[in-house]
Amino acid sequence: MPHEVRGVIATARDAPVEIHTIVVPDPGPGEVVVDVAACGVCHTDLHYLEGGISDDFPFLLGHEAAGTVAEVGPGVTEVSAGDYVVLNWRAVCGQCRACARGRQQYCFDTHNAEQSMTLTDGTPLSPALGIGAFADKTLVAAGQCTRVDPAAPPEVAGLLGCGVMAGLGAAINTGGVTRGDSVAVIGCGGVGAAAVAGAVLAGANTVIAVDIDDRKLESAQRFGATHTINSSDTDPVDAIRGLTGGNGADVVIDAVGTPQTYEQAFYARDLAGTVVLVGVPRPEMRLELPLLDVFGRGGALKSSWYGDCLPSRDFPMLVDLYNQGRLDLDGFVSERIGLGDVQEAFAHMATGDVLRSVVML
Ligand SMILES: NC(=O)c1ccc[n+]([C@@H]2O[C@H](COP(=O)([O-])OP(=O)(O)OC[C@H]3O[C@@H](n4cnc5c(N)ncnc54)[C@H](O)[C@@H]3O)[C@@H](O)[C@H]2O)c1
Ligand SMILES: [Zn+2]
Ligand SMILES: [Zn+2]
Repeated sequence: MPHEVRGVIATARDAPVEIHTIVVPDPGPGEVVVDVAACGVCHTDLHYLEGGISDDFPFLLGHEAAGTVAEVGPGVTEVSAGDYVVLNWRAVCGQCRACARGRQQYCFDTHNAEQSMTLTDGTPLSPALGIGAFADKTLVAAGQCTRVDPAAPPEVAGLLGCGVMAGLGAAINTGGVTRGDSVAVIGCGGVGAAAVAGAVLAGANTVIAVDIDDRKLESAQRFGATHTINSSDTDPVDAIRGLTGGNGADVVIDAVGTPQTYEQAFYARDLAGTVVLVGVPRPEMRLELPLLDVFGRGGALKSSWYGDCLPSRDFPMLVDLYNQGRLDLDGFVSERIGLGDVQEAFAHMATGDVLRSVVML
């Protein structure tokens, strides 16, 4: 029987979100219904509400979630009812050229559930990033469920489903940070703070946090930043060079995603260093750099989608590190809120009051 549950819906561009009754169908072949336990509020949910992703309203928001598998459809072997899972937006196909070459994190053909969840009048919903987890239950593809150790509470495990994974992976996977590296992270919101934590986890010995908000610099220190720079009053390129023997950092991560911060990252890295862009630029943004500097400084200019993560490889490993006390995921949870508080959480995001607000279901 289809389930009628509560869900947070963006009905129109910039209109306040509303709680509606939604219909979650029985899982079809390859599909799974999940009882959502917790779902973080990500900047991307706000992008949906602002019409910045597409015009396919109404959206069922929420995509950074953990919960328990309630029902599985025909042919599902990956998970079964009762499994504790983190939801991901990278269910890999296993067949495309990237998958065939063993680079599943670059899969060209990731998939979501085939059926739609709907409003009670039958209007189909567009689930954010193919998940839609600001809801008591959600319908996803089996490959979007990654089993993890249930010892990690859902409000922390779920964070790996998007922003925190993007930041950790920007440092560990894309940046390839290793022991003894110097790393600078520009912008220390949820994603940047996770990049700081990732750099520390990977063994960097100098980890420089840059932000324009002192509260974010304080939280970055809690995640292990060894130095902080407030770039509203200090030139971050000079300061990063000063902290790295005049050289610049081995890896500089731009977790803001503007031409200004990218240029800072470009010049704040050492010769042959790596720049990682994980912040998402707006469509109208343009970058101008002397091509001779791009050539002459060598190294690598990389972008990081979802931290180049492979959920089946990375989520269980990171949850284990959390359970062992080696990765502070609790530090990202600024507040636990209800389904009715999502609009207010967007306001907290805008004023910089939180790293993550997490909806508890
Ligand atoms: N690549 C991915 O897969 C992925 C996944 C999730 C989010 N993101 C993107 O990452 C970015 C950061 O997300 P978030 O959740 O951390 O956002 P956030 O709003 O929590 O954090 C942004 C931080 O940047 C700081 N900042 C703003 N302008 C700055 C400047 N000029 N110099 C230095 N710091 C500055 C802010 O003070 C804030 O601390 C967003 O663009 C988001 O869309 C990317
Ligand atoms: Zn593939
Ligand atoms: Zn997200």
